[in-house]
Amino acid sequence: MKVLILMGSDSDLGVMEKTADQLDAFGIPYKMTVSSAHRTPERTIKLIREAEKKGAKVIIAGAGAAAHLAGVVAAHTILPVIGIPIDSSPLKGVDALYATVQMPPGIPVATMAIGKGGAKNAAILAAQIIATSDPEMQKTLKAYKKNMAAEVVKKAAKVEKR
Ligand code: RP5
Repeated sequence: MKVLILMGSDSDLGVMEKTADQLDAFGIPYKMTVSSAHRTPERTIKLIREAEKKGAKVIIAGAGAAAHLAGVVAAHTILPVIGIPIDSSPLKGVDALYATVQMPPGIPVATMAIGKGGAKNAAILAAQIIATSDPEMQKTLKAYKKNMAAEVVKKAAKVEKR
């Protein structure tokens, strides 16, 4: 396992699947499960310890509302932690964004954008962290960026023809 993906509730899965899909596309092995900073604090710590033992390089945590999951994970590990604020509450993720991004000095969480875009970017950032010591992943990421640029050029050509 290279990445542990945690989400605060199974109701977060629709967003967090975007992380899993992108890791799949990069061929990065991960474990994805549910654990809540508030409802299952001990389970959260157990999952972190297991991931560390299994050689995980990054932990990704997505949660909504009073989203303390990523911060709590960061408190218990020296692995890099990526947080995804989920738009599951009446405040549409702004609450989760503030809770995830406003960490006190000393305990960083790399906070992504709210929702599905952030979930996808979490996987790409995790791949970039892994790539710092993995030449194959560097190649994968370079190819990914090249494809993305080619797609934009294709779309631009379509728009220009209209
Ligand atoms: C958060 O509360 C979860 O991450 C989820 O986004 C939100 C609602 O959870 P459920 O009540 O659907 O389990 O802790």
